[in-house]
Amino acid sequence: MTPSIQPKDATLGAVVTNIDLAHLNDATWSIVEDAFIEYGVLIFPGQHLDDDEQVAFMSRFGDLEIVLTHISNVGSDNRVISDDEVRYWILRGNEQWHIDSSFKPLSAKASCLSAITVPEAGGDTQWADMSAAYDALDDQTRGRIEGLSALHSIHYSHERLGQPPYTGDEYGFHVHGAPLRPLVKTHPVTRRKSLFIGRHAYGIPGMTEAESAALLAELLDFAARPLRTTGHHWQPGDLAIWDNRRVLHRVLPYDYTEARVMRHTRVAGDPGSELAGTL
Ligand code: OGA
Ligand code: MN
Repeated sequence: MTPSIQPKDATLGAVVTNIDLAHLNDATWSIVEDAFIEYGVLIFPGQHLDDDEQVAFMSRFGDLEIVLTHISNVGSDNRVISDDEVRYWILRGNEQWHIDSSFKPLSAKASCLSAITVPEAGGDTQWADMSAAYDALDDQTRGRIEGLSALHSIHYSHERLGQPPYTGDEYGFHVHGAPLRPLVKTHPVTRRKSLFIGRHAYGIPGMTEAESAALLAELLDFAARPLRTTGHHWQPGDLAIWDNRRVLHRVLPYDYTEARVMRHTRVAGDPGSELAGTL
């Protein structure tokens, strides 16, 4: 069985069919690994992996930062969570373009989502190609951002949602001393440059808060334009993976009174290329 790889109508992303991720041999894995680097986002419809199969597949990419968690708006009492819970705001935050774990000392290499329960409408995941965005910048903007870095903090992005400061320790919230990361990242495999931005980024040293926010907003607005973005409308059993070293992602809003349950696995970055500095 040779996988069929259908590129999306965008600078990133492909849909992969004629493949069984639960029973990958090394030759097929190598096709997946190459396609992951080439397209940045791979969507595998109808895989229906179980927990162990998803973990086994993602372990091929490297050490796992998050082995398995549910990105879900359903609480332990089987009811959808309400907006007085921090978990609700973690989900709503995912509607903003971001890079997984950019607010932790070691940002993520790859992420995986698979759909268990999906709402009637909305709840698509979208991705934006930050290498294509960097390539499309004019020389003046490239010159302006060369050598600049930004802090990345989930405390910052959480408060930007209009939420009061959070002092608990869910989802990496306890980490203080925000990591500092260059705005331009070089991909460790392709050596292509990309914009390393998103909702957790703020506070560019050498700029005022307002100048920094304006520049980051301008870059994000330019970067996440249609031909550099692609999305997926989920059916239960679908699985997607993406390369956090060159793409941003977000979830589209949906009716939060309907259940949406996604299974998430996250592969740790490589300390040689994904470790942040500090101020
Ligand atoms: C994530 C994430 C988006 C989604 O799991 O890191 O951002 O579509 N999820 O649920
Ligand atoms: Mn995410």
